[in-house]
Amino acid sequence: MKILTNSNKKIYIQTWGCQMNEYDTELVRAILEKANYTFVKSELEADIVMLNTCAIRENAHRKIYGRIHNIHHQRNGNPVMIGILGCMATNLRTDLLENRNLKIDFIAGPDSYKRLPQLIDECTRDKIRKAYDLTLSEFETYSDIYPSRKSGVNAWIAVMRGCNNFCTFCVVPYTRGRERSRSVENIVTEVKKLTSDGFKQVTLLGQNVNSYRHDEADFATLIEEVSKVDGIERIRFTSPHPKDFPQRLLQAIADNSKACKHIHLPLQSGNDRVLDMMNRTYTRKEFFDLVDRIRKLYPAMAMTTDIIVGFPTETDAEFEDTIKVMREVEFDSAFIFKYSERKGTIAEKKFPDDVAEAIKTERIVRLNEIQKAISLKKNRTHIGETHSVLIEEESTERSKHDFQGRTDGNKVVIFPAGKYKKNDFINVRITDATVNVLKGTPVN
Ligand code: 5AD
Ligand code: SF4
Repeated sequence: MKILTNSNKKIYIQTWGCQMNEYDTELVRAILEKANYTFVKSELEADIVMLNTCAIRENAHRKIYGRIHNIHHQRNGNPVMIGILGCMATNLRTDLLENRNLKIDFIAGPDSYKRLPQLIDECTRDKIRKAYDLTLSEFETYSDIYPSRKSGVNAWIAVMRGCNNFCTFCVVPYTRGRERSRSVENIVTEVKKLTSDGFKQVTLLGQNVNSYRHDEADFATLIEEVSKVDGIERIRFTSPHPKDFPQRLLQAIADNSKACKHIHLPLQSGNDRVLDMMNRTYTRKEFFDLVDRIRKLYPAMAMTTDIIVGFPTETDAEFEDTIKVMREVEFDSAFIFKYSERKGTIAEKKFPDDVAEAIKTERIVRLNEIQKAISLKKNRTHIGETHSVLIEEESTERSKHDFQGRTDGNKVVIFPAGKYKKNDFINVRITDATVNVLKGTPVN
């Protein structure tokens, strides 16, 4: 029997969540383009719609379920194949597979993207209601696939995947499996290729990026080797864990002119009892020591953080401890989240979600206000300085005659558009600052 092939079909893919998911979408594109599928910009033109989902915070599944319904509704009875990819695929596997009201055709977990062409064929050919592969691998890194990237200024590159930390609130170890790293050679080869595609900045990605390890090479080695690639001017990385910053790594970041002077340091809470319940493996004192070590080596290092408010049993006094740390460290910016119970996590099994929603809201509003004042104060210290800016795009903040780019410390800078173009470096003298951006004028 002749096997039906789907490869002349058109695909639309929508992505939620973190940068790793954005990157995975580029991998999915590469895998399916090789199998002769084409990607289109509108779901209305597509034969297949893929949703690359995130499970990390609240409401994710409701949004996706609503989205599936909405896609079918828009098609007005015209058939469309729907595939669920990403972290929600693994996190909600039972419901996705067994819920008959959910009109989806295939499901692929984060380590199964190479099987997508087969999954699509399976659900067409064999009329299997839901074709799926949710196996998590100890080895899959997609190191043999060159992602289909949109041309731009920054290229993401996953250097490791998975997480072994099991923070009690976090679903990632369950949805993405254990840590595994690509070899330095393989990464460097890809970075060289990136430069020939015109990228000047690379962001090294991993769920726990600074625990990168391949044979003898650690994350410091990786940064050094990537920085030797001609044409790469800036190296960023995300997301690290505070526990994995040996002095050798901090020194490598401080000394290497291509390593951007910005470190994201997810604090989560400023209270030792809560940190322990979260299984973060550091104390408030150890976190302060790390911040001190960083500032001793490089006083101007930009630092940002993630905070969770309303973790189970968090008291007012314990929340105040978080405020104290935020005031003392003065992060350049912070992502602040209300705790939301995630299915399958240790916290879900062991700690009732007992902080009232109204209290969570109060705490997030208060912390956001405090952080806004700190961000503004920090941003204003840059007024009068001149920064090298890598131009990203026309500004979304002001008129079309402005451009925006980022400083080495990852701050957005808006300046009047001149003869410059995207992907150029220019020096900008900072003349003004708001909570979220710097404003300035180009100088020679
Ligand atoms: N509830 C709230 N925030 C969470 N994060 C991860 N899991 C949860 C959760 N269950 C936040 C953490 C993490 C960031 C990526 O998302 O702050 O650093
Ligand atoms: Fe989740 Fe913690 Fe791993 Fe980050 S380090 S991905 S928060 S388990």
